[in-house]
Amino acid sequence: MKVLVLGGGGREHAIAWALAKSPLCDELHVLPGNPGIAGIATCHEGNPCDGKSVVKLAEDLSISLVVVGPEAPLVSGVSDELRRAGIPVFGPGKAGAMLEASKAYSKEFMARHGIPTAPFKICRSMDKARETLEGRKPPYIVKADGLAAGKGVFISDDLSQALDSCKELLDGSLGEAGKTLVVENGLTGREVSVMIITDGETWRLLHTSQDHKRAFDGDRGPNTGGMGAYAPVPWVDPEMTKKIEQEIVEKTLSGLKKDGIDYRGVIYAGLMVSPEGRIDLLEYNVRLGDPETQALLPLFDGDWLEACLRCAQGKLSEAKWSLKDLCSVNLVIASEGYPGSYEKGYPIEGLNDEEEGVTVFQAGTALKNGKTVTAGGRVLSVVGTGDTHDEARKRAYGKAEKIKFQGAFYRKDIAANTERPREEDR
Ligand code: AMP
Ligand code: GLY
Repeated sequence: MKVLVLGGGGREHAIAWALAKSPLCDELHVLPGNPGIAGIATCHEGNPCDGKSVVKLAEDLSISLVVVGPEAPLVSGVSDELRRAGIPVFGPGKAGAMLEASKAYSKEFMARHGIPTAPFKICRSMDKARETLEGRKPPYIVKADGLAAGKGVFISDDLSQALDSCKELLDGSLGEAGKTLVVENGLTGREVSVMIITDGETWRLLHTSQDHKRAFDGDRGPNTGGMGAYAPVPWVDPEMTKKIEQEIVEKTLSGLKKDGIDYRGVIYAGLMVSPEGRIDLLEYNVRLGDPETQALLPLFDGDWLEACLRCAQGKLSEAKWSLKDLCSVNLVIASEGYPGSYEKGYPIEGLNDEEEGVTVFQAGTALKNGKTVTAGGRVLSVVGTGDTHDEARKRAYGKAEKIKFQGAFYRKDIAANTERPREEDR
């Protein structure tokens, strides 16, 4: 069958790689893709958020399944348009995507359906924000309601700083995204990400995973889109998994049903586990995580195309589901200066030599005179798999040392300590 993937980052390279391995896959197309993806699929120019042109491309190519990578096309309703045209889609419609598009909506969803989360207030004016913050203890957590590419959460121990953040947001520093605020209580503990695949009736989980958001070693420096990830998270034992399933997964799915939302795709639950074992939901995303996906899909042991297709058809229970009993580490190689400004166009060496237990996914790359060059902040994901995190880590770092481009940098401590909380979790 013919499959179309929307998106063009490291996550989408991993998705395309997993789909391409399926015996069901006759043709793989990606909009817009990237040079790494072009090695395994046909890439098409265009805007994945423009529903009409996505439907036209899918019809012109006789596509039987569309798999949506990033949130933006989901939030703009591309899945709804494809479904109206009779094309199965892995990815929720606009109504389901509200769980990520609006933090106020998602917190109210959690409250309405009894899903544990930090107590919160929704504020649309400075007076309300001041009253709410003055009634709370530090740390003060202020979140912009709308999509903000990871730049919408402000955490501070200082009340006047928290108030300044509110003022800037309400004054439009993030445009419409910050005109509504969520102010919530601070939580402490360890974070873990859970990817739920669901067709609205049946659900399945990928391995637990953990990303590393800060730019530098020891969880220091500015927040980024993610400098690495590992899976599974060893401290999430079967008992905790059961609790996550009961408290978060099942309540989320029954909430979607009660609200009449037909959800087919991924629900990413970002969780905080307190030292006492209390599990709170920090956020939902409505797609696979980046950089978690690059670590998770190499550990999937079924047919990813079959799983996505069955999910899109509402028949997930018929798909074979199995996870490898292995560990993985995704190490992101970035351009010097990221997440601030950086140079582009540097040739990348050592990309294509194969190594056992290692897969390289491309994110910010371009082709220049037939050579792969840097074209983004996060350039590559080097994924190692092995029997232990240590083995997976050695493989990822071993390969990363052989990949060269001017200004390449990566953290030296991804998955260095999978048992203990990260600095930023303390
Ligand atoms: P979010 O986009 O809502 O997941 O927030 C981004 C990050 O901010 C999370 O991954 C946490 O590290 C942190 N965070 C969010 N909400 C809280 C909270 N209530 N208490 C402590 N940290 C938080
Ligand atoms: N890794 C966080 C995200 O995908 O939003």
